[in-house]
Amino acid sequence: MFDFDTVIDRKNTFSLKYDFNESRGYSPDTLPFWIADMDFKTAPCITETLAKAVAHGIFGYSDADDSYFEAVHHWFRQNFRWEVKQDWLVKTSGVVPALHAAVRAFTKPDDAVLIQPPVYQCFASAIETTGRRVVKSPLIRRGKKYSMNDFDDIERKIVENNVKLSLLCSPQNPTGRVWTREELSQYSAICRRHHVRIVVDEIHCDFTYPGYTHTAFGTLGEEDAMNAVICTAPTKTFNISGLQDANIWIPNPAMREAFRKELIASGAIHLNLMGLIAGRAAYLGGKPWLDALKEYLLRNLNYVRSFLNANLPYIKLVEPEGTYLLWLDFRYYGLTDAALELKLRNDAHLWVNMGNIFGSEGSGYVRLNIACPRSTLEKGMNRLYEAFKSQKPSSNPYFL
Ligand SMILES: Cc1ncc(COP(=O)(O)O)c(C=O)c1O
Repeated sequence: MFDFDTVIDRKNTFSLKYDFNESRGYSPDTLPFWIADMDFKTAPCITETLAKAVAHGIFGYSDADDSYFEAVHHWFRQNFRWEVKQDWLVKTSGVVPALHAAVRAFTKPDDAVLIQPPVYQCFASAIETTGRRVVKSPLIRRGKKYSMNDFDDIERKIVENNVKLSLLCSPQNPTGRVWTREELSQYSAICRRHHVRIVVDEIHCDFTYPGYTHTAFGTLGEEDAMNAVICTAPTKTFNISGLQDANIWIPNPAMREAFRKELIASGAIHLNLMGLIAGRAAYLGGKPWLDALKEYLLRNLNYVRSFLNANLPYIKLVEPEGTYLLWLDFRYYGLTDAALELKLRNDAHLWVNMGNIFGSEGSGYVRLNIACPRSTLEKGMNRLYEAFKSQKPSSNPYFL
């Protein structure tokens, strides 16, 4: 019903993924598997609505109205049994601006903010660029899976550093974990006990693989929700990141006011009209497209797993529970991050995210975006094979 196989030329479309190879030091023929957008056309219900808006021809200042809220409300009720309220909603142009605004709103310069690396790199930059301090309670890899650090460690880090705020990625980028209700509840309880507010980034919530369910933080309990800023967006799900539309839910009125004040202070008060139009259309009519997309992504995941097992057994897939980002463990080769990056860039002609951008805990890993047509993914995996087929595993793996 939907075509995810056709390779669409994205060159000369202002695409960060496709139009900046040479200016960022990659050869022109490099294949990109880094930034988290997709090489698929968005849902037809979205492009059709946008086409009507373009034909209308007036693109003035805009705001979300009741019809926008109702579409989003419908989505969260239908997919996550989460009843959002209209007055909780603060609109922003993205989740990243919301992370920054929340850090400024709920902490002072030099205050400590907790993160669990390896984690989306904008968490650390939202803390550091605003003059706050990063405190880490790293995730722990147990066998094939990551989990949160011991809850004792989390609590000790909070107390010892007088942590004021924590940033939580749920589902987790880059490890692909989908946190269970119990994990989220325990984490939330520790934070509440020490008056640590939580910013939860749920931008990947629509991408879970069969057998895993995303728990909306807002469904944990009232006390949890009253301590949280919950960041959601239709952009990742529907491949409309360039249209900049995010929905930030803040049930606690005092926190909402403080957050809003920061947005106003930074001048970020206007929204993208096309983002609103696309977001509403997505949440009203995009479910069949998303379901088909998720089936396609699952087949891509299965393909990569089989390919690695058969051809590159020293590259280990960390089995994802959600997201379209794969976390690949290259540590058996014993290469430094710099050497690994050079090999991927110069020998394989692949542009991926090196794991250490998500924190030093990601050293030796690579993040690979599989949201592309199968033929593109096959090309990428074959290039990986050619570059690594003669690479011997280290007898003394550097990172193990
Ligand atoms: C966890 C996470 N949060 C936020 C973003 C980006 O959010 P936005 O484009 O809404 O600023 C990304 C993009 O990859 C992400 O992975």
